[in-house]
Amino acid sequence: METIVSVLLAYLIGSISFSYVIAKRIKKIDIRQHGSGNAGATNTLRVLGTGPAVLVLALDIFKGVAAVVIARYLEAAEVLPAFTVIGEMEGVAPALAGLAAILGHNWPIYYGFKGGKGVATTIGVVASLVFFPAVYVGVIAILSIIITRYVSLGSLIFTALTPLAVFLTLEHYDHPMPYFYFTIVVGLLSIWRHRTNLERLAKGTESKIGAKTK
Ligand code: G3P
Repeated sequence: METIVSVLLAYLIGSISFSYVIAKRIKKIDIRQHGSGNAGATNTLRVLGTGPAVLVLALDIFKGVAAVVIARYLEAAEVLPAFTVIGEMEGVAPALAGLAAILGHNWPIYYGFKGGKGVATTIGVVASLVFFPAVYVGVIAILSIIITRYVSLGSLIFTALTPLAVFLTLEHYDHPMPYFYFTIVVGLLSIWRHRTNLERLAKGTESKIGAKTK
């Protein structure tokens, strides 16, 4: 039961689109009709500038952290009668809640199911579940963004390399196996959400940080 509650709560938290809310507040615009059309921190940077983008990034990361923390709390506190089999397997409830938060970000219930690509929320979830692998891969992703100025490439590097980093360090950090499966699902989801970015990267038409138009 904790798992079901955690997943539902996580989806509702993930559905809060901070880029949408902040763009509406600052400029009275729908961020999804500007720039790349994506409801995320990168497009906020493009459309609104650095300050709002940093705020959106932090809040979207926080959504992922909150989803995992709440799931862990409910799991540990056993505030509800546990009858689901999956909920009793170590690591499943926080991982499922993390996935639900990312799905909420990508397909938010409050905004017509049109959201973002889930990377910032994924960072929050992954860092909460598997901190050190997330840091290792995060450093590589940040370096790739600094070198190429393609945020989408850095995002893809982060989400695609995380499963490998988790797999290689699973025993070392004593992480439960479901975390590895979770990162594979999230990696595939991210690649699929970035399919138009991938096309543009292949054609050399992807926008770089600092460029005004896509
Ligand atoms: O996380 C989103 C980022 O990787 C790409 O965003 O707006 O360039 O499609 P955008």
